[in-house]
Amino acid sequence: MRSADSTSRRIAVLASGRGSNLQAILDAIAEGRLAAEIAGVFSDKPGAHALERVPERLRWSADAKSFPFREAFDAALADAVDAVQPDWIVCAGYMRILGADFVRRFRGRLLNIHPSLLPKYRGLHTHRRALEAGDTEHGASVHFVVPELDAGAVIAQVRIPVLPDDSPETLAERLLPREHRLLIDVLALCLSGRVAEQGEGVLLDGHPLFTPLQLDCGA
Ligand code: GAR
Repeated sequence: MRSADSTSRRIAVLASGRGSNLQAILDAIAEGRLAAEIAGVFSDKPGAHALERVPERLRWSADAKSFPFREAFDAALADAVDAVQPDWIVCAGYMRILGADFVRRFRGRLLNIHPSLLPKYRGLHTHRRALEAGDTEHGASVHFVVPELDAGAVIAQVRIPVLPDDSPETLAERLLPREHRLLIDVLALCLSGRVAEQGEGVLLDGHPLFTPLQLDCGA
């Protein structure tokens, strides 16, 4: 892995669906808000809209179902990611669980954005679960990826209030633009070498982060 200096700016993005978080990264780069380049976009869904957001030379996809077992797909994905020499790998709406071997290979530079205030609501249907629990606050988290699902150290979060007549859809819609800003802010910290994973925790500017950063990502 290259050290965290001015060249630590190649980002590989893993995405399974529409790719609005990928688009937020592309926009931030194009507008000079993020000093980075997209090294490649990788998907387990060959038809994912996310892939269409970048030129063909940056796309890789394979249908996980055409591989004999989970580890075979993960190994192919890992080789493809490695081939583009990314400094950071970002799961941005990547909906397939990454196996332990994949995580080990990229540990420390593997991030995920998750639509809940972790450790609440790991996994799916986070908006519905927040409403069902009667939460007055909801949000999103960016964390380092570890083999256990959505269990890695959280770097930063953004919070929004839950409104009385919110549905899972309205909650998701209000959260999404904040998610995008959160992801860009965290990537800027990571790419500038200010954030690192250490053991089960996060270092910010060389000091342990005891609680996740709470970022103001107001629309
Ligand atoms: C985002 O809301 C992201 O947080 C979520 O999927 C959506 C993808 O949107 N990720 C997860 O739920 C991961 N567990 P996008 O494809 O438009 O970026």
